[in-house]
Amino acid sequence: MYLEPPVEVTKSEFTIKASEIEQFLRAPAMELKPWPNAMVQLKDKTMFIRHARKEEVPKMLSYIEKIMKVEHDFYDIVGVRVYAELLGWYRNRLKDPYVLVGIIDGKLAGMANGRILNPDINISHHTMTFIRKGRIGAAMYYAKCYYALEVLQQKEFWSTFESYNGWMLGFRTGQTPYPWPEYQHELGGARVYTITQDMWHRSVKNFDQEVIGSKFVFDNIPEELVKQSEEFEVPEEIVV
Ligand SMILES: CC(C)(COP(=O)(O)OP(=O)(O)OC[C@H]1O[C@@H](n2cnc3c(N)ncnc32)[C@H](O)[C@@H]1OP(=O)(O)O)[C@@H](O)C(=O)NCCC(=O)NCCS
Repeated sequence: MYLEPPVEVTKSEFTIKASEIEQFLRAPAMELKPWPNAMVQLKDKTMFIRHARKEEVPKMLSYIEKIMKVEHDFYDIVGVRVYAELLGWYRNRLKDPYVLVGIIDGKLAGMANGRILNPDINISHHTMTFIRKGRIGAAMYYAKCYYALEVLQQKEFWSTFESYNGWMLGFRTGQTPYPWPEYQHELGGARVYTITQDMWHRSVKNFDQEVIGSKFVFDNIPEELVKQSEEFEVPEEIVV
């Protein structure tokens, strides 16, 4: 949009570096406590859960690209959205995102991600499992709730659900909906379901034992497991 300057100007053109524009396009990062590494015993395997590292995003994207072609159980819609969220983190176009990865025997078994809206509210984005029937997704979802309400001590954790299996996780944690359409989740404008600190301490905190069958372990994780999980391979085949 061009408008005539309302006064005589002696310099009529300005240049600006892209590196100077960048500050207007990204949100300055908050200082956040990291997710403490954890391990959880699943039916027959032990899963290690850690933060994904930014340099691991391209490897994850190459796999999610295949997952988004799966036309059952909503892997396609969740896949494309996760792809955008991972890329949004990689290209600094998402405010305070976090990505947790679940690793079994050095292989990526599941992931969960979200972002910090403000010090009080954590927005849950997605949970995905790449191996079925192992309660891996339930464990990843619990990890995300634990990060928001226990580690970051936020007031609320806001979810929405895009699949029946995802909704089951929310249902099992007894989440309360906010009035709709007054409140809309950033994923497609669907209902916002919340877990508050009060709900967390009164019931949801024990979800790991009740639904997954064992408690998360944060201390004395075997050195060997930590080392084995420093890197992960993405599965060669899609087996969901
Ligand atoms: C939602 C999700 C993370 C849940 O993961 P999960 O807790 O590990 O659970 P699974 O998907 O493996 O299985 C869910 C249930 O369906 C059952 N199931 C899974 N695959 C099945 C199959 N092929 N046939 C029959 N039952 C099956 C499981 O046994 C499980 O039942 P249970 O809860 O009684 O044990 C996972 O289903 C997923 O990644 N879905 C696609 C992405 C998605 O929808 N994400 C959530 C967005 S809201």
